[in-house]
Amino acid sequence: MMLLQLSLLCLLLQERLPPTGASESGILGGKTAKPHSRPYMASLQVRGAHTCGGFLIREDFILTAAHCIYGCKEITVVLGGHDISKKEDSQQRIAAEKCHRYSLHTLDINDFDIALIKLRKNASLDERVKNINLPSEGENISSHTQCLIPGWGRRKPGGVAEKILREVSVSIKTDKECKKWWQKYYQPKRMLCTFDSKKGICQGDSGGPLVCKDTAYGIAALTAPNCNLSYPSIYTKVSSFIAWINEIMNEKY
Ligand SMILES: *[C@@H]1O[C@H](CO)[C@@H](O)[C@H](O)[C@H]1NC(C)=O
Ligand SMILES: *[C@@H]1O[C@H](CO)[C@@H](O)[C@H](O)[C@H]1NC(C)=O
Ligand SMILES: *[C@@H]1O[C@H](CO)[C@@H](O)[C@H](O)[C@H]1NC(C)=O
Repeated sequence: MMLLQLSLLCLLLQERLPPTGASESGILGGKTAKPHSRPYMASLQVRGAHTCGGFLIREDFILTAAHCIYGCKEITVVLGGHDISKKEDSQQRIAAEKCHRYSLHTLDINDFDIALIKLRKNASLDERVKNINLPSEGENISSHTQCLIPGWGRRKPGGVAEKILREVSVSIKTDKECKKWWQKYYQPKRMLCTFDSKKGICQGDSGGPLVCKDTAYGIAALTAPNCNLSYPSIYTKVSSFIAWINEIMNEKY
C-alpha cells in the first residue's frame, strides 16, 4: 500500500525535508473520469476495501506496483468499475491466483517497483473491460508529453480513498529535473516522473497506469510524504520491464 511506501520515503527523505508547518489542503487536481472511459483500470481490493490500482494487460494479467502486493491470496481484482462502492453490473471481480513481484524489489528499495498478478480466471473483454497497450522494450517517452493518471486514490493527503474513478493530466519531466528533486532515489533507467504544483498521485493511486498516447508507460509508485506536490511524482518505467513481463506471461500455467 502507498501508506507503507510513504512512511519509508519519509525516512528516506528526512535529510531533505524540513519540518512541516500547517497542513496544506492540497487536492491533487483532476476530475471525475467519464464512466468506463478507462476500461483497463483495476481496483485491487482486500476484504472489500480498495488498496491500490492496477491495469489489465491481457485477459489473465494485471500489471501493478510491487509494493501493492503482500498476501496475494487476499487480493480481489475488480475490473469494469466506476463507482467501486457499488456492485455495478459492469464489474468483474476476480481473485488473484499468483503474484509475481520483480525479484529486486524489497521494502528497503523503492526501485524495481513492479508486479504482475495472474487472475484465477480470464476477464471477459467487453466495452467496459479492455487491455491497455504497453510500450516496446527500451522505448523512451519524450519529456513534456501529456499523460493521464486515473485512480481511486485520495483527493487530498489524509483524506479517504475515492469511490468514483478520477483522473488528472500531467506532463513528463526530464530525467535531469526528476533527479534534481529526488537525487539518488531517482533511477532514470527504471523510473519516470511528472511534476505539477497542483496535480499528482496520492495514497491509493499506487499501481495505476501513467497513460501516454493510449499506452501505459508508467506505474504510479512514489510520492514525498503527504503526497507533497513540491516534489515530483514517480512512476516505474514500464518499457524497462517488457522482457520480464513477457517471460512471466508466457510461462505455462
Ligand atoms: C512540501 O515540501 C516543501 C519543500 O520541502 C516544504 O516547504 C513544504 O512545507 C511541504 N509541505 C507539506 C504540506 O509538507
Ligand atoms: C485466457 O487468456 C489467455 C491469454 O489471452 C489465453 O491464452 C487462454 O487460452 C485463455 N483461457 C481460457 C480458459 O479461455
Ligand atoms: C532511454 O533513457 C535511458 C535513461 O535516461 C537512457 O539510458 C537510454 O540511453 C535511453 N535510450 C534511448 C534509445 O534513447
